[in-house]
Amino acid sequence: MKILVTGGLGFIGSHTVVELQNEGFDVVVIDNLSNSSEEVLKGIVTITGKMPLFEQLDLREKKSVEDFFKRHNDINGVIHFAASKAVGESVGNPLLYYENNIASLIFLLQELSKQDKANFIFSSSCTVYGQAEEMPITEDAPVQQPMSPYGNTKKIGEEIINDVAKATNINAILLRYFNPIGSHPSAEIGELPIGVPQNLVPFITQTGFGLREELAVFGDDYPTPDGTCIRDYIHVVDLAKAHVIALQRLLNKKNTEKVETFNLGTGTGSSVLEVIRSFEKVSGKKLPYKIVPRREGDITEAYANTDKANNILGWKAQSSLDEAMESAWKWEQKIRS
Ligand code: UD1
Repeated sequence: MKILVTGGLGFIGSHTVVELQNEGFDVVVIDNLSNSSEEVLKGIVTITGKMPLFEQLDLREKKSVEDFFKRHNDINGVIHFAASKAVGESVGNPLLYYENNIASLIFLLQELSKQDKANFIFSSSCTVYGQAEEMPITEDAPVQQPMSPYGNTKKIGEEIINDVAKATNINAILLRYFNPIGSHPSAEIGELPIGVPQNLVPFITQTGFGLREELAVFGDDYPTPDGTCIRDYIHVVDLAKAHVIALQRLLNKKNTEKVETFNLGTGTGSSVLEVIRSFEKVSGKKLPYKIVPRREGDITEAYANTDKANNILGWKAQSSLDEAMESAWKWEQKIRS
């Protein structure tokens, strides 16, 4: 079975390539290296003993996408990660986000719609729920108007896939991630944020390593037990495994609808202060932090109801917050050594 992974050298993409190869799939990676590096391939080979086929290609170039599918007319499934994901940047440069995240998706779907049968897994986000009214969040919770162009590309992406699947032979699974963290336990691959990390865990590990002076905790006046925001932090390896299971569901024609949607989270919410304590526990270091005003656009809490993923997809997150944090810390130390 030959699987195309777009954005396969990125954070979640690279971990998914590893899990696919571990399960015996032949993997073709497309990546434009805009937020990744070919070095990641070495990590993948060290872990799996196998080099995936790699093509540096920009999915915004329609002709290149057409050519790719002419050369690879035997692809059994596509897992589509390639996208920009910085919320703040998307507010300043929305067209970059609509071009990169939406045009690419359209060109891919155009090629897949020419096939007799196509299987498509889409990287979506819990951001589509906005501040959901009820916790934990089920897949039936209403999708809300996103707070950023980035979030909107995920909502629009889901809508496009729903429309296209109805009219074509494409079957799709939309995976709504909560907050992916951590790295492969081997520390051969992991998250590589460019510049100052915007996300909590890479900022914490960099601060713990001494690269940043202190963590700014964005607000302690939220209506939560300790006043800081609550999120559902999921180990990236658990997340990667869910993609393989979702793909197998499509390949084995076990899906009951043309487009199915699953939340991927642990089901447990953790506050920012709890995440800090987890870091301190696994690293044995005190983390310098201060409370600052809220960050614009942050929601109070988001954690997943995982019943549908557990019972229908047959997947459950295995790792605790501490285990995920331990792998993130191991990775930080490895890349700085
Ligand atoms: C963010 C994006 C979300 C995206 C996700 C990808 C925003 C508003 N949302 O989610 O759309 O899908 O990343 O991973 O950017 N925090 C601090 N100090 C920091 C950084 C974060 O206190 O320096 C807090 C935040 O207020 C939040 C929590 O940590 O409560 C998690 O933040 P983050 O890692 O940025 O993820 P989200 O905001 O949940």
